[in-house]
Amino acid sequence: MTARNIDGNALSAKVREELAQRAAELTALGVQPCLAVILVGEDPASAVYVRNKVAGCEKAGFRSLKFTYPADVAPDVVFAKIAELNADASVHGILVQLPLPKQFDADKVLEAISPEKDVDGFHAENFGLLLQGRKSFYPCTPWGVMKMLESENVQVKGAEAVVIGRSNIVGKPMAVMLLSKGATVTICHSQTKDLAFHTKRADIVVVAIGKAKFLKGDMVKPGAVVIDVGMNRDENGKLCGDVDFDSAREVAALITPVPGGVGPMTITMLLANTVESAERALNAQGESK
Ligand code: GUN
Repeated sequence: MTARNIDGNALSAKVREELAQRAAELTALGVQPCLAVILVGEDPASAVYVRNKVAGCEKAGFRSLKFTYPADVAPDVVFAKIAELNADASVHGILVQLPLPKQFDADKVLEAISPEKDVDGFHAENFGLLLQGRKSFYPCTPWGVMKMLESENVQVKGAEAVVIGRSNIVGKPMAVMLLSKGATVTICHSQTKDLAFHTKRADIVVVAIGKAKFLKGDMVKPGAVVIDVGMNRDENGKLCGDVDFDSAREVAALITPVPGGVGPMTITMLLANTVESAERALNAQGESK
């Protein structure tokens, strides 16, 4: 079997068109969705991510604000900016790009963002709501993965799902989202004893461990859905995921490529959260009148 690709670019384009439409409607009502992005330091990958986020906003008709600080900035300066953005009613989403330099306590920074503007879905309050199956802003990457599964009518209910990686940004929320849709979920990580034992049983496997070409075809169940969240460089400097695409696609039924798979969906769901936040703000205005 050769797997079919799930095309993240095509799905992103379709979803972003719908978001641009919602943004236009909001703007016509005087509430243009606005995302504020804070970037600290000179990490080149972060700079690219932030540039793509800002460009995504502009293309969809959102307003965007970008604040950049040198790597040695005092944390208080960033906390003051977050407080200012929290209080600014014209700003609907606030995002602090991670990782942060070592003088920062990232948890404290994320929790300084108002949960109502936490379009990354990283605030402990939003994470807690997600865990309880209540409405929150969902973290963008795992939410994008759920959209990809939905777009391909992948049966999540009753599926054996294996998530490799236990980060707060991807692995943990991914497992919770799959669980909430009725999958039987196993979370594997660097301490897992026999990883292939788990992955070979998985109808859906999501890999988010940051190791180039880690999941090989012989670790995949025939006919499985393989989702690659990785973004690495191989030995030749070429972009690659956490999945060994060439061997895995010979075994899987559906697979996400890198690039052009999960990556574009992350920014798309960030835009979705920002529109949602702007819609909530507009509704709140109506209620307070
Ligand atoms: N660093 C890597 N991924 C992300 C993300 O989704 N959001 C933020 N804020 N930082 C990141």
